[in-house]
Amino acid sequence: MMRVFEKMGRTLHLGFLLALSLVLILNVAHGGKTSTFVRKVEKTVDMPFDSDVFAVPPGYNAPQQVHITQGDLEGKALIVSWVTVDEPGSSEVHYWSEHSKEKKKADGKVVTYRFFNYTSGFIHHTTIRQLKHNTKYHYEIGIGNTTRQFWFITPPEVGPDVPYTFGLIGDLG
Ligand SMILES: *[C@@H]1O[C@H](CO)[C@@H](O)[C@H](O)[C@H]1NC(C)=O
Ligand SMILES: *[C@@H]1O[C@H](CO)[C@@H](O)[C@H](O)[C@H]1NC(C)=O
Repeated sequence: MMRVFEKMGRTLHLGFLLALSLVLILNVAHGGKTSTFVRKVEKTVDMPFDSDVFAVPPGYNAPQQVHITQGDLEGKALIVSWVTVDEPGSSEVHYWSEHSKEKKKADGKVVTYRFFNYTSGFIHHTTIRQLKHNTKYHYEIGIGNTTRQFWFITPPEVGPDVPYTFGLIGDLG
């Protein structure tokens, strides 16, 4: 019996040390909470359907539903995604940093899917790599048909005290 208690004691002791070192580590790295945002309990107001973000852009095969996703763990890659409806078109992204006007090119893939009687548009995903941290880039898509231009800023280099604000979107539709 005594042995068991002794063992338990040792385990507890280890657990305490672990907790303490965690507290110490957390105290050294102040990465913690960087945003005061707290989600409201009430249902949020829906974005109105006539909002310009839902409008079909004018022009033949113009890129729609354009969005970006971080493309690697350090923030040096970015995935550009969009949909074209008239034809597959090009998956090329032309991009340039605001410090250099030299355009670079990245190519990607185009996919479609069917769900019962629904057939999707042409869905493009193109990854841009070897970007510089904390840098504004402009990019163009829809090369060869209706070209649209957008921009983004890459996140800062990863570190213990680097603030990083991001959004999470769950689209169950
Ligand atoms: C698919 O089928 C549903 C149910 O039969 C119908 O309401 C809808 O209009 C159809 N959609 C297309 C794209 O044909
Ligand atoms: C649209 O773009 C694709 C890819 O660049 C090209 O092959 C096609 O000819 C273009 N279509 C029109 C109508 O310009």
